[in-house]
Amino acid sequence: MRRIAILNQKGGVGKTTTTVNLAAALANEGHKTLVLDLDPQAHATLHLGLQPGRSGPSLYDVLAQGLPIAKARHKVAPNLYVCGSHIDLAAAEVELINTVGREMILRDQLEADEESFDYVLMDCSPSLGILSINALCAAREVIIPLQAHFLALQGLSKLLETIQLVSRRVNRDLKVAGVVLCLYESGTRLGNEVIEDLQQYFNGPRKVNAPWADARLFKTRIRRNIRLAESPSFGQSIFQYSPTSRGAEDYASLAAELQWRDPAPIWMADDDVVATTTAAVAATVPAEMPPAKVKAKPTPEVTPEPPAVIASPPVKSGLPAIIPAPHFGLHANSHAIRTDISNN
Ligand SMILES: Nc1ncnc2c1ncn2[C@@H]1O[C@H](COP(=O)(O)OP(=O)(O)OP(=O)(O)O)[C@@H](O)[C@H]1O
Ligand SMILES: [Mg+2]
Repeated sequence: MRRIAILNQKGGVGKTTTTVNLAAALANEGHKTLVLDLDPQAHATLHLGLQPGRSGPSLYDVLAQGLPIAKARHKVAPNLYVCGSHIDLAAAEVELINTVGREMILRDQLEADEESFDYVLMDCSPSLGILSINALCAAREVIIPLQAHFLALQGLSKLLETIQLVSRRVNRDLKVAGVVLCLYESGTRLGNEVIEDLQQYFNGPRKVNAPWADARLFKTRIRRNIRLAESPSFGQSIFQYSPTSRGAEDYASLAAELQWRDPAPIWMADDDVVATTTAAVAATVPAEMPPAKVKAKPTPEVTPEPPAVIASPPVKSGLPAIIPAPHFGLHANSHAIRTDISNN
């Protein structure tokens, strides 16, 4: 059984979309998969077609009342199960405050469960409270969905610190499986710089015993796709709602990578993406950023066709110039974050 927490304390980065659709992709492949909705917002519950509060007991009853997890589980599609959330789950943070071992409740519940699953995916709320800590204690792996902008790197550093703390103190098996770029749009200069920083970090040497020592930047990037945004309101995964969409293609590709298979062909040569989009980016820079803050490196003439011919070096980061460092506390820029990670 692989137990995976989908976690990022930043809101709206694609955690729920990734949990639900990655789970659906794995279920489609024939893997018995369970989604645990640990977010009181209950978005994963709704996305999978259940009504919070009207579909029987929820994870609140499991965590705060000791109900066996099987009693809160529903089958929503072939091979796909969910333990739903409810707004009451927000109260669990407070109710559990005096409970000894409150971080381990979910882990113990999963271990006591007699049903076995190939995958358990946990959708976390945008916080690092007791519910997310329960997910980190119950999980063996963490997938971090990320949107490619500067503040995302700032948050990543904080998140890795938390994961390291949990792994040192309560869950030595915890590892970061990888970072997946969500809501991906090619052709934004800042996005490319952040991706380049991430690629350099994940291609470089890392401290061997850190929980992220073997983490990868998934080659699959989840493109911004309207079908993905529409599907929750129909209570369907992307594979039910629009199986031929780019969203379905990307999540099937991510599921393949999670199992160490090749991603979809479009994501095979990801290192080229920055280069191939550079010309388009260069064309938009003057409109998006103040000219004084953009370090003008030579960029090629923009030739609309064919994109594959455009192969200039990526325009290097202007991050510190664009974003005043002191505003963001410890880490002045993404390079500082790399240092921070490798020193821990
Ligand atoms: N690839 C995508 N293309 C288009 N829309 C997307 C994509 N991924 C997510 N969205 C939409 O963006 C919004 C935020 O996504 P999602 O709910 O998955 O983020 P989250 O990290 O779970 O948010 P929260 O922190 O509030 O739990 C949702 O409306 C979702 O439908
Ligand atoms: Mg969510």
